[in-house]
Amino acid sequence: MYATRPIDSSANMPTIQVQWKGPNGSGPEWVPLKQDWSERWCTLPDRFTNEFALRIRDFETRSSDVFLVTFMKSGTTWMQELAWLLLNQLDYEAAQSSYAMVRSPYLERSILYPDAPDSIARCDKMKDNPRLIKSHLPAQLLPEQLWKQGRKIIYVARNPKDVVVSSYHYATGLNYWHGSFDKYVDEFVSDKIPYNPYWAHVIDFYRMRDEENVFFVTYEEMSRNLQDVIRRLSRFLGCKELTESEMDKLLNHLSFKNMKESKYGDQTGLLKALHKSDDDFQFMRRGIVGSHKDELGAENKDKIDKLTCTFLKKYGLSEADIFGVI
Ligand code: A3P
Repeated sequence: MYATRPIDSSANMPTIQVQWKGPNGSGPEWVPLKQDWSERWCTLPDRFTNEFALRIRDFETRSSDVFLVTFMKSGTTWMQELAWLLLNQLDYEAAQSSYAMVRSPYLERSILYPDAPDSIARCDKMKDNPRLIKSHLPAQLLPEQLWKQGRKIIYVARNPKDVVVSSYHYATGLNYWHGSFDKYVDEFVSDKIPYNPYWAHVIDFYRMRDEENVFFVTYEEMSRNLQDVIRRLSRFLGCKELTESEMDKLLNHLSFKNMKESKYGDQTGLLKALHKSDDDFQFMRRGIVGSHKDELGAENKDKIDKLTCTFLKKYGLSEADIFGVI
């Protein structure tokens, strides 16, 4: 059902690449994209076994479910906070008394935290209505029912150079990955970092952005005009239109400064408690568009730009078509 191959990566866990393998070379025909799926591999910890993959594929969804899918470090938590509040009638009291990651669980979390309770079972048993479920899996490894039943999917993309910078700090700060920044970039461009390849992840959702059940947005759009994103997302989710004062309060709640200063807006404390993290680890790091400009270096920038150009050429797209000029 799924093909796997081991890879050599500096992640501090055994790593494999996983591919959906349908009968007679067919793709996951429930995903509304026609392409050669044999080119779509995804790098994951080896705890993503065939059995785990099948449990995810067969995950029972509900009509009110909303799935939030991202490549890691693309503004997932920011969007979780926004979407959860819209779906829960702006319940700030609840939002200010628990972490977004508790209110909006991570479907495949068990592959990263094997000792924690089973993440699929947790999502399955969740009583919340609607459920806001987070996943970093690419389209072909997500539950089949998302597509067959047209469940709502929010996809947030962020430009690859800022993703690399943000994820390097995250992965090394939490000791998921060991090595220099240059090595991290090399492994990112050779698809050795969990959830790589980056561009296949993003482009498949970008090409499905006009599907009725898909809301595709970028971190860059959220940074440039969050109010507009909130309005569009609210319509997509079928929520009532916000009044001016509700909008102002929500914008203030979602600001980087506010989230960083609030106990449950910034997950640093929780992540430090869960991991052997570096003392100076910060989850809410910079929160800007373009942090790569003073952190990545010319050589690493060239490597990522080359990856981008080679991949996007096949689709007649440029990075600016997706993220605007950064
Ligand atoms: P940086 O490391 O560049 O600062 P994810 O939630 O997918 O792990 O993404 C984390 C990134 O989103 C971090 O980026 C973090 O600072 C940023 N982020 C989180 N909340 C934010 C907010 N309210 N405004 C802007 N960026 C935010």
